[in-house]
Amino acid sequence: MPERALSPAETGDDDRFDRLFRPASLAEYVGQAKHTENLKVFVEAARRRREPLDHMLFCGPPGLGKTTLAHIIAREMGVALHVTSGPAIEHKGALAGLLTKLERNDVLFIDEIHRLTPAVEESLYPAIESFNIDIMTGDGPYATTIQLALKPFTLVGATTRTGLLTAPLLSRFGHVVRLDFYPVEELQRIVQRSAGLLDVPIDAGGAREIAARARGTPRVANRLLRRVRDFAEVLGDGAITMEIARKTAERLEIDAAGLDEMDRRLLRVIVDHYDGGPVGIDTLAAALSEPRDTIEDVYEPFLLQQGFVGRTPRGRVATRRAYEHLGLAAPATKQGDLFS
Ligand SMILES: Nc1ncnc2c1ncn2[C@@H]1O[C@H](COP(=O)(O)OP(=O)(O)O)[C@@H](O)[C@H]1O
Ligand SMILES: [Mg+2]
Repeated sequence: MPERALSPAETGDDDRFDRLFRPASLAEYVGQAKHTENLKVFVEAARRRREPLDHMLFCGPPGLGKTTLAHIIAREMGVALHVTSGPAIEHKGALAGLLTKLERNDVLFIDEIHRLTPAVEESLYPAIESFNIDIMTGDGPYATTIQLALKPFTLVGATTRTGLLTAPLLSRFGHVVRLDFYPVEELQRIVQRSAGLLDVPIDAGGAREIAARARGTPRVANRLLRRVRDFAEVLGDGAITMEIARKTAERLEIDAAGLDEMDRRLLRVIVDHYDGGPVGIDTLAAALSEPRDTIEDVYEPFLLQQGFVGRTPRGRVATRRAYEHLGLAAPATKQGDLFS
């Protein structure tokens, strides 16, 4: 199984660097202007009214800045951020424990909120709707439910796909922010900023080269930057140039479109084993020996966005662009499938 050179998903080592590179304010958050402009207004309005922000959902593929935004929102509100995740809240009691700790207007951040258990999710509804929860006390015949009032707070949820959320949960968010892949110019600014934080010299060409190969994803850009820094220090004089960036990408088998070995393998499976598709996602997952979720959350979104893969009712197809990228001639009939 080829390890993914620069998967956008988090690894242990990233944790430290994610924190180092994490912008502290909306002003420092690069790009996604459409969203940050709105968030600025919501924060300002809530602050003036001395009320909590509306509950918010951030969604998008890994590494686009959902966790970062949650931190920024709390900081700009001047309140505490409490971080947890869907799988970490094992039962209703654990949720009650978290909720009763919140101070007025605090932010509760639930990462991977689509992975809450149904029971926990249901007990979250009254908490976010009317700021109270039902707590069971006592045992057996003496068991009673008491209702406990909570201080007003903001729930910030993060998920890789809104489609994974139940309709009742989704409908309870006042604001849904769908993060998009970043254009190269924005990633270039992120790389330049991160290089500054690492105190490594970089020129515009170097930053652009890294940005162009980062799959539209800040976390991938930051990770590639660290690898390029290694090459620059060992093989060069420490400064990052376009040439060093390109050499590093070649060594890591990240091509000019930013695709790595795993991406190309996915395309090749569709093309070679399934004649260009359509191939169902479960079949694809089995052929790649990867969990279906990983393919849908991590690999596929960028390939879809870049037009290497198409989605049809009968499964995934390789597009003309995929064939061209692999240096193959596209069969004419396949395009009929995709566009009909
Ligand atoms: N808009 C941005 N500007 C600057 N850095 C960013 C931006 N978005 C993400 N990053 C950086 O990329 C890394 C991953 O972001 P993170 O918020 O952890 O992503 P997610 O929670 O969506 O997986 C962090 O180091 C973060 O600081
Ligand atoms: Mg995150």
